[in-house]
Amino acid sequence: MLKRIKDKLDRPNHTWKRFLNSCLNFISKSLRIPFVLGFPELVSVEPTNMCNLKCPLCPTGSGKMRRRQGYLTLENFKKVVDEVGDYIYYMTLSNFGEPFLNEDLIAMIRYAKSKRIVVSLLTNANLIDESNASDIVGSGLDNMIISLDGATQSSYEKYKVGGDLSRAINAVKLIIEKRDERKSKTPFLQIQFIVMRHNEDEIEEIKNLAQALNADRLVFKKLCNLNGFPNDPQEMEEYMPLDTAYRAYKFEDGVYRWDTKIQDPNFCPMAWNYPVINWDGSLYPCCFEHSSFELGNVFESSFKEAWNNKRFISLRRDILKDKGSLRTCSECPVNFYRDIVFEAP
Ligand SMILES: C[S@@+](CC[C@H](N)C(=O)[O-])C[C@H]1O[C@@H](n2cnc3c(N)ncnc32)[C@H](O)[C@@H]1O
Ligand code: SF4
Repeated sequence: MLKRIKDKLDRPNHTWKRFLNSCLNFISKSLRIPFVLGFPELVSVEPTNMCNLKCPLCPTGSGKMRRRQGYLTLENFKKVVDEVGDYIYYMTLSNFGEPFLNEDLIAMIRYAKSKRIVVSLLTNANLIDESNASDIVGSGLDNMIISLDGATQSSYEKYKVGGDLSRAINAVKLIIEKRDERKSKTPFLQIQFIVMRHNEDEIEEIKNLAQALNADRLVFKKLCNLNGFPNDPQEMEEYMPLDTAYRAYKFEDGVYRWDTKIQDPNFCPMAWNYPVINWDGSLYPCCFEHSSFELGNVFESSFKEAWNNKRFISLRRDILKDKGSLRTCSECPVNFYRDIVFEAP
């Protein structure tokens, strides 16, 4: 406990406002009350749910997403940051979609950084080149996770459909080059490789590539079906790696089921501390893509109102009773998906 407090006080973006907010959040979590005192510590904000690629097991790429598609405006982004920015420690500027499709992305990062929020994002990196690499580094972005799901163009494009591996590799090089030029330590650059049937024999190659590129970390991620459940066994079979060490599912009664039990059946860290604001202001308790999870709208009301409105409190009550009985939670990767294998290059 003392160590956790010390860690918070040592954070580079420590302020007493953030610290007190974090204590309130901690009390709400520890007492397991459905009304959360204060704001969350981390918020994910979706710059867009559109994409330049068509990954088959992603609802954006497969076209199975039911939400309306569009772009977050800088004005709406500022509204949210003006309300929560002094309280949250972290922001992830990504959800479903490719963040760099939003032309205001760099301005958004700069605005969040002006409040000393630690900002991270995930990207397919196909839209990063000489024209924006310097600005990305200059924006103060703290962490960047670049998807490189293949070591050769033919395996890369089997999942990252429409993608160009050389562009993604060049993006890694450019970011590291601009970072070195500025003598900056950020963004911390992580390469992420989803292990699938068609790329599982490229693990050594991607390790060598990450090393050669001088990336800060390489993470091997287990595949999951983000398209929704019940999953299509044929579709899953096509991408599921043969090596069970990299599988999050087991095949049972004709379907792929999570191979672990639900974690913490009466609590969910996301619904208390890491919500998602979609491009249109809809507030979700987590990044799981399901329309029943639209609990409010932070552009129509304040974040504070939506965060503890009737629907959100009722969902937290249901989670406290029995998370596994809620269909959406019983299928959500967060509950099953801790086991990510990673290696520093
Ligand atoms: C929906 S993407 C959005 C960010 C960006 N477009 C990208 O692909 O990196 C967010 C994260 O989900 C990961 N992802 C995509 N499909 C996945 C799958 N089937 N299983 C696990 N993770 C997946 C991506 O690699 C990325 O890290
Ligand atoms: S690049 Fe990212 S958002 Fe786009 S389809 Fe693939 S996983 Fe989904």
